[in-house]
Amino acid sequence: MITIQDNLFVLQTDHTTYSFLKLPSGHLEHLHYGPSIDTTGAAEVLTQKCRMLGGNGIAYSKEYPLLGLEDRCLEFSALGHGDVREPFLDITFENGSRTSDFLYADAWVSEGKMPMKALPSSYGGAQELHVLLKDSVYYAELELIYAVFPACDVITRRAVIRNQGEAAFTVNRLMSLQLDLDDSEYVFHTFTGAWAREMNHQRIPLAQGKWINESRCGISSSMNNPFVMLSRPETSEKAGDCFGFNLIYSGNHCEMAEVNAYGKTRVITGIHPEGFGWRLGPEEELESPEAVMSFSAGGFTGLSRNMHTFVREHIVRGEWKKKERPVLLNSWEAVYFDFDEEKLLAMAKTAKETGIELFVMDDGWFGTRNDSRSSLGDWYCNYEKLPGGISGLARKIEALGLRFGLWVEPEMISVNSRLYREHPDWAVDVPGTLHSEGRDQRILDLTRPEVRTWLVDTMSAVFSEEGVSYIKWDNNRIFTDIFSRARENQTEFLHRYYVGYYEVMDQLTRRFPHILFEGCASGGNRFDLGVLCYMPQIWASDNTDALCRAFIQTGLSYGYPASVVGAHVSACPNHQTGRMTPLATRFGVAAFGVLGYECDLAALTPEELAEVKKQIAFYKEHRRVLQFGDYYRLVNRRYNDFEKGVWQWMTVSPDRKEAIGFYMMEQAVPNMSFGKFQTAGLEEQAMYRFRDVGEKEEEWLVSGSLLNHAGIKLQQAYAGHYRREGMRPFADLDSRLYIMSMILNP
Ligand code: GLA
Repeated sequence: MITIQDNLFVLQTDHTTYSFLKLPSGHLEHLHYGPSIDTTGAAEVLTQKCRMLGGNGIAYSKEYPLLGLEDRCLEFSALGHGDVREPFLDITFENGSRTSDFLYADAWVSEGKMPMKALPSSYGGAQELHVLLKDSVYYAELELIYAVFPACDVITRRAVIRNQGEAAFTVNRLMSLQLDLDDSEYVFHTFTGAWAREMNHQRIPLAQGKWINESRCGISSSMNNPFVMLSRPETSEKAGDCFGFNLIYSGNHCEMAEVNAYGKTRVITGIHPEGFGWRLGPEEELESPEAVMSFSAGGFTGLSRNMHTFVREHIVRGEWKKKERPVLLNSWEAVYFDFDEEKLLAMAKTAKETGIELFVMDDGWFGTRNDSRSSLGDWYCNYEKLPGGISGLARKIEALGLRFGLWVEPEMISVNSRLYREHPDWAVDVPGTLHSEGRDQRILDLTRPEVRTWLVDTMSAVFSEEGVSYIKWDNNRIFTDIFSRARENQTEFLHRYYVGYYEVMDQLTRRFPHILFEGCASGGNRFDLGVLCYMPQIWASDNTDALCRAFIQTGLSYGYPASVVGAHVSACPNHQTGRMTPLATRFGVAAFGVLGYECDLAALTPEELAEVKKQIAFYKEHRRVLQFGDYYRLVNRRYNDFEKGVWQWMTVSPDRKEAIGFYMMEQAVPNMSFGKFQTAGLEEQAMYRFRDVGEKEEEWLVSGSLLNHAGIKLQQAYAGHYRREGMRPFADLDSRLYIMSMILNP
């Protein structure tokens, strides 16, 4: 519900209130974002009281001598009139000035939610608030747009700048979200990393100064995911205030948390201003990507629940939105580039026997691609490897009873390709200068309409091959040597690239609604809400090591639901770390995402194959709760004198009738033999059967309240030299899966 009354703006979701005030000067003062409140009297009580400005304070104007923008919580800020924090908007006008003065002009509420013009956006919001601000000197107009999603306590934010004057101006930055909070007792949470070690959870206590989570590599990046949080220092998994922010965008982004000289905190998120500059001519407009924010007083769990629901209900779309995702076998770690039809069919045959549903042919099927040095752009089948072509192979795979899918990396071009020989100017590079290399490939200039048309046509031909029901869309190079021969203004390039990329994705996903798309960018280098608007799942990391995945998937779980996280069981020693991990643990970790296998199944022993078969049967039986259930982080790597790396998590069906739990321990500790599994989210009044999968160590009939608040004391673990009947063998990296099922008629 959105209301505007007596200059007070109030946005209500089911459990939160967001409120701001129009001041007599026309500025917007932020008043509250947090738990739901009755806003009677808020305009007088929550506004900042000011009887004098400090020694060198700047008053906004003569008319408003007590309004200092430097120390106010504002809905929006720009440069030049005293607010010296990071601005939301920065414009250089024709006369060279960067001072602007956008003041309130109008506001209205609209029902439902409008899609954006050139960028992907969320859908299904209840209402939108539009606030119009005008700079009367330069005839510029700024519209701030807020959309409310009551049930998941999310409010989205975005802005549109319009030039209504006669002279062009340059937008140096147009952010998506500004949130000013009136104190600084916060911890800024970011998710950082690199290739194969994505989503490390960083916690940065704020103090006067600025912390920036950013990507400057032209892609949302594995270095700094655009999802960040702000919490109170005491916030825990189960309780306390927590804000979450994300951006529906895949390019350069930045999320800044700044504490000013008066202890106020400002959060700004949006396209990274570094390198950005958009020339806005008369009558033109520029829209910022949509930012997502949510508040929960229920700790990180509460915040994650909001984000998961939002992503599942209002970001992911199309046929696969709520469909259970198939269990796949991917050829990459099994054979890399070294395959032919016979090899693939042999793999598919074993895959079918284990219960796998989808066979994915990864890199290496096109052009003359036998390594990563050639052929990107030559999207025609290599008939030496696949004599029957793609559809020939697909038909044979389908005849085995599997669905078929393949890998593409459409945004790239290899210098060693027919495409490059025909269109060298389609590659992003700076003419006449040395080009920096990345996997021997360059980026296609998607700012050019003819390149986009070629791409849509070429991919349409591939996707139309008979039997193609899944596409892994990869992107393995970050941006360097940024330049488009088709543009004058190179500072617009990166944003125009993404506008082009989204246009391509929009056309292809509309044209091929049945295809299940999985995003990928050297693993999780583009794990963001922009991609998820088109592709319902993303390959989370090239790292398939189960222990590393526990970190990566836990990091992701703060902001993203399991249904969007691609997770595979792979061979041991693991190809990224060399680590040996029990097969059960590899499965247990991957099962809390969209499960796949990525190994040579023929190399497994008959016992291992039988185990894989059981795993897949288990996963299929519980797939709905594993992919779409309510996820809880129970123990986040407890590491102390007594326990060396304990992880526990679980997922509960929305009706709470079924739950699956996971318990893993990195290192066995001698003479510390007891373990406990304490749940969350079960129906307190109901009775549950609690049992482990496989070993028949545990079988208990207990109440949800006991499980939630006391937990199960598990069987004694193998603790030294002696092993007795009924003990729970638990060595390094061992794990258990637990099933909890509600007893309907006890
Ligand atoms: C990237 C992907 C991998 C695989 C290879 C193929 O690294 O992340 O999963 O598809 O490309 O070249």
